[in-house]
Amino acid sequence: MYIWFTVFAGLAILSLAFLKSLLPHFVEDSTYILRSLKLGFRLVKYKKIKPFYSVVDCFSDAVKRHPNKIFLHFEGLQYSYGDVDKQSNKVARALQAEAGLKEGDTVALFLANEPSYVWTWLGLAKLGCPAALLNFNIRSKSLLHCFSCCGAKVIIASPELQDAVEEVLPTLKEQEIRVFLLSESCSIDGISALSDKISQASDQPLSRDLRANINIRSTALYIYTSGTTGLPKAAVVTHERIWAASFLQAVCGVTAEDVFYINLPLYHSAGFLIGMVGGIERGLTIFLRRKFSASQFWDDCRKYNVTVMQYIGETMRYLCNTPQKDSDKNHSVRIAIGNGVRTDVWSDFLNRFGDIKVKELYAATEGNIGFINYTSKIGAVGRVNFVHRFFFPYTLIKFDIAKEEPVRNSEGLCIQAARGETGLLVGKVTQRSPFVGYAGNKQQTEKKRLRDVLKKGDLYFNTGDLLRFDHDNFVYFQDRVGDTFRWKGENVATSEVADILTLAHCILEANVYGVQVEGHEGRIGMAALTLKEGEDFDSSDIYKQVITYLPAYARPRFIRIQPCLEMTGTFKMKKVKLVEEGFNPDHIKDPLYFLDPEKKMYVPMTEEIYRAIASREIKL
Ligand SMILES: *[C@@H]1O[C@H](CO)[C@@H](O)[C@H](O)[C@H]1NC(C)=O
Ligand SMILES: *[C@@H]1O[C@H](CO)[C@@H](O)[C@H](O)[C@H]1NC(C)=O
Ligand SMILES: *[C@@H]1O[C@H](CO)[C@@H](O)[C@H](O)[C@H]1NC(C)=O
Repeated sequence: MYIWFTVFAGLAILSLAFLKSLLPHFVEDSTYILRSLKLGFRLVKYKKIKPFYSVVDCFSDAVKRHPNKIFLHFEGLQYSYGDVDKQSNKVARALQAEAGLKEGDTVALFLANEPSYVWTWLGLAKLGCPAALLNFNIRSKSLLHCFSCCGAKVIIASPELQDAVEEVLPTLKEQEIRVFLLSESCSIDGISALSDKISQASDQPLSRDLRANINIRSTALYIYTSGTTGLPKAAVVTHERIWAASFLQAVCGVTAEDVFYINLPLYHSAGFLIGMVGGIERGLTIFLRRKFSASQFWDDCRKYNVTVMQYIGETMRYLCNTPQKDSDKNHSVRIAIGNGVRTDVWSDFLNRFGDIKVKELYAATEGNIGFINYTSKIGAVGRVNFVHRFFFPYTLIKFDIAKEEPVRNSEGLCIQAARGETGLLVGKVTQRSPFVGYAGNKQQTEKKRLRDVLKKGDLYFNTGDLLRFDHDNFVYFQDRVGDTFRWKGENVATSEVADILTLAHCILEANVYGVQVEGHEGRIGMAALTLKEGEDFDSSDIYKQVITYLPAYARPRFIRIQPCLEMTGTFKMKKVKLVEEGFNPDHIKDPLYFLDPEKKMYVPMTEEIYRAIASREIKL
């Protein structure tokens, strides 16, 4: 590693001008490579160092360096590094006393985006307890599923989520789960208030011995993804992965002087790992918000001197849709980190809000390969460079979209996609780039493993994403295959939605997919259904199931009734043609319905509705 570092430093200094004329992206490539190598070097150090140096130790060091520096701004209040440290000590002590927590016990966090998320997690980390980050939009069956697959015996919830907890309380009680609410008191049998215990607990530091057995390969978090099929899966996030993700801010050039704006949910890797933990790694100030607000965004940035923002594709579009103001360029934001921005929206955004460096990422929580857009190529998510590829071997293989599986040759091996050709991204599973898998779900873990890719017996992680490398080594994201689609920044697992739809008594089978809507990122949910014999389409029953069990982003907005569903040779439902056909009533002869939130039911889809969607009179 060190040799590489020296070679690059030497090359960069000696022959910069010459190489620049030869290789137009040399400066950008080598800055990125140098930064990555430096961080790679640090990770190697952390792997060897004893006792293990975790992100919590990094936080404690930041507290020692600048106890009075503001760590979090939230709803007009501010919390210094010292405040958050003390609060996390109190949480840890209260949980030790109330729940007898010890190293290795998993605790599920069912919390809103607020500072208690941060110190509750830090408190758990000080005890050596992994945390499962539950999505606060999920309810009932999904909630129970997510909770039980991580093996937690304790759940901590925000007061505003009390109803959702009560809904599943009988099952939690049966399983003897301890349920805590972050409130001063609670009169419900089976739920204990925790805030009063926290305020009474001592804020004295806890001994490192409490987590003496934690090492870089220990599980630190469970983060839920709807990667492919079925209910959400708990991706196992090790301490090594936390470190790697937290370095992304450094790779993007963020420093301790920056102010980082987090409005993405903390239960996803983007908000939690890249934003919050990355902020701890840098020792910077975070401005935290419950949820994104386009109308407040720039005022917040001005008031709190925000210099780095995070985005998903929709963020940029919502910001561009707000009314123009003279003050549009009056802010200090210099870097934006995220993914999913469309090229046209990006240009609008820059024209309106000034020169902001966009760092477009491609990565998955559980994946073992990622890219980052460190050059100024519009539309690219990154670059192929040999250092990256040396440490994290990956390849693109030919993929049969209709069959939804990789193409294999006569020897049963996959075929590499040519330059310029779209292929499935697979990352080789090695010591350095492991694929840890999903908690309590061998079958799903196995589904993401791809064997016999380039050689008999080799093993790759299947990202499920289609990418393209061009002749100048730029990487472009093309599409996601089959079983999930993305809407409003969330992955929607088609089979989870299908499971819920078939709870409606009239539905026999459901084939769920995402369709594109002009002017929107991602795809909106649509379902092709067959009805049970002798049953009519029961609009209000279907509506009831969908509203009760699915978060807003996963609800199918369009329904199409078919006499039978088409299957592939391997008995998978065919989606490609349905996706292409979309929801235009002019082109589709099957009965079509539209989820109308005002009428609280699915109404027949008409030309008028179609036009109103196109002209944005109806907001999706
Ligand atoms: C933002 O910066 C200005 C000028 O440096 C300073 O006066 C102000 O206190 C800062 N605001 C916050 C919230 O830190
Ligand atoms: C920019 O915003 C700051 C803070 O809101 C304000 O004090 C200043 O007057 C604004 N400058 C311009 C040119 O609008
Ligand atoms: C990559 O970054 C450049 C410059 O910051 C930007 O112009 C380009 O649009 C980015 N690519 C994507 C896909 O966002």
